[in-house]
Amino acid sequence: MRIPIIAGNWKMNKNKEETKKFLEEFKTLVGDSEIEVVICPSFTVLDSASQIIDKTSIKLGAQNMSWEEDGAFTGEVSPDMLLDLGVEFVILGHSERRQIFNETDDRINKKVVKALEKGLRPILCVGETLEEREGERAFDVVRDQLIKGFKSINEKNASKVIIAYEPVWAIGTGKTASPEDANEMAAYIRSMVAEIFSEEISEELIIQYGGSVKPGNVEDIMNQTDIDGALVGGASLEPKDFIEIVNF
Ligand code: PGA
Repeated sequence: MRIPIIAGNWKMNKNKEETKKFLEEFKTLVGDSEIEVVICPSFTVLDSASQIIDKTSIKLGAQNMSWEEDGAFTGEVSPDMLLDLGVEFVILGHSERRQIFNETDDRINKKVVKALEKGLRPILCVGETLEEREGERAFDVVRDQLIKGFKSINEKNASKVIIAYEPVWAIGTGKTASPEDANEMAAYIRSMVAEIFSEEISEELIIQYGGSVKPGNVEDIMNQTDIDGALVGGASLEPKDFIEIVNF
């Protein structure tokens, strides 16, 4: 049985004080959740967040990492540095990193490989742009991102990867893919993973939907057969919104 994972991607928001305020409130609301709840704040507050959520059911994720272990890589953060702070998950290949910071599939794949080697669970983001959807290329684009993202990953590790299907046109825009369209892509992703690895691995795979998930639409999305969670941006910034999403 797949246990749903709902992750909050705070992006470049919240300083130390704001993080403390959010988490002190959120941890009293979340209790012993039946699903996995992950908060992904900025690097600068991972340490304080880690201390506040210690001994709660809330897990910690980062929004990016280097594929290198250490050395002369100015501005980068290594997987060991994340592990040192109690981080268990890492978002990789988010469309903002692909589009604004020119991250390539090849580099994203190196990060996925390194994260797995270190025991971090990657949340690998895939998704098409509006132009690609309108040009009926959405499935080809996602297929390509998946094949490249999973390169050199062995079957043993494959099911530890979480796939977040995030249509780029739905991120931060208030537009959500219809639950049926999101599920169609999630089912396609699962069938691709069955093709690349095996039916068994594909059945274990957690597939999240991301893109304007909010309290009002989460239930319909989570009720879809192939969607096992959500990657939430804007609506994860307020404890009351995020808890409504978690308790869908
Ligand atoms: P959004 O962001 O929920 O604000 O659309 C989702 C994401 O980018 O992961």
